[in-house]
Amino acid sequence: MTGPLGKDLLGLADLSAEQIRLILDTAVPFKEISERQIKKVPTLRGMTIVNLFFENSTRTRVSFEFAEKRLSADTVNVAASTSSVSKGETLVDTARNLEAMRIDMVVIRHPASGAPRFLAERIDSNVINAGDGTHEHPTQGLLDLLTLRDHLGDLTGRRICIVGDVLHSRVARSNIYGLQKLGAEVAVCGPRSLLPNAVHELGVQVFDRIEAAIEWAEALNVLRLQLERMQAGYIPSLREYNRVFGVTSARLERASRDLLILHPGPMNRGVEIDSDVADGPHSVILHQVTNGVAVRMAVLYLLAGGRPDLADAAKGGRS
Ligand code: CP
Repeated sequence: MTGPLGKDLLGLADLSAEQIRLILDTAVPFKEISERQIKKVPTLRGMTIVNLFFENSTRTRVSFEFAEKRLSADTVNVAASTSSVSKGETLVDTARNLEAMRIDMVVIRHPASGAPRFLAERIDSNVINAGDGTHEHPTQGLLDLLTLRDHLGDLTGRRICIVGDVLHSRVARSNIYGLQKLGAEVAVCGPRSLLPNAVHELGVQVFDRIEAAIEWAEALNVLRLQLERMQAGYIPSLREYNRVFGVTSARLERASRDLLILHPGPMNRGVEIDSDVADGPHSVILHQVTNGVAVRMAVLYLLAGGRPDLADAAKGGRS
């Protein structure tokens, strides 16, 4: 089944600005469904979607499941630890066995960069990347774009800085590709040990000091320090990191304007972001989570073909 996005959603690097705008515009009416008392429309009734998670997740897995259920799809969750993957079955064999049970879509999170593309080239079902290694996390990038657009309007010329562990961050890559396609100016800020060697090839401005980044930016997207991916000593200590690069209220109060604060979660409070910032008046972190469901509903709907009869059902219908 193919729609305006093609067969799969593997990364924002693959999408045009028009396709990204289409997803964001489609997400807007889907937001309303989650505000209803009965949060369900029959849009994807009869479709079967498998959520295949080979890595831990709270937000993304639950958000996809809510999105699928609110569109009336049948969903099955498969965790690697409780599946036959733990007995040595390959990714493709697992997916082909699921396809033999007549599924329509696979949502996959995997620790290996490229695993969703590898799968998409080998199965007929639509494949959605829910985060692969250090490569991309396209639905996180899209929900960040929607949240920024909700607060800043058109993103053309807007200045967005991504702060922290860019080296290990699939969220950073999806944000950079998406923001640049929508015309925003993008910067990164962090210790050089946590920026990719070829960071300038990404077309971003680089700040070595958080104070300079705060002075330049209209919004900060603060990344989690991915301690589980750090075998080498990338930073002297968490305390030192917070002292030099932490997003603190003291630093934000010295800025000449209010900044919007985003974080993809999960947060290391007191490390990359202080609690009074995360819970403060300029934080849109929980708005990001709410938007995640609508963005994922839009992606599922568009990959299912985005047919006009389905759109009508989404606007008016209830199950
Ligand atoms: N932002 C994000 O991907 O969070 P989870 O790891 O909890 O899904």
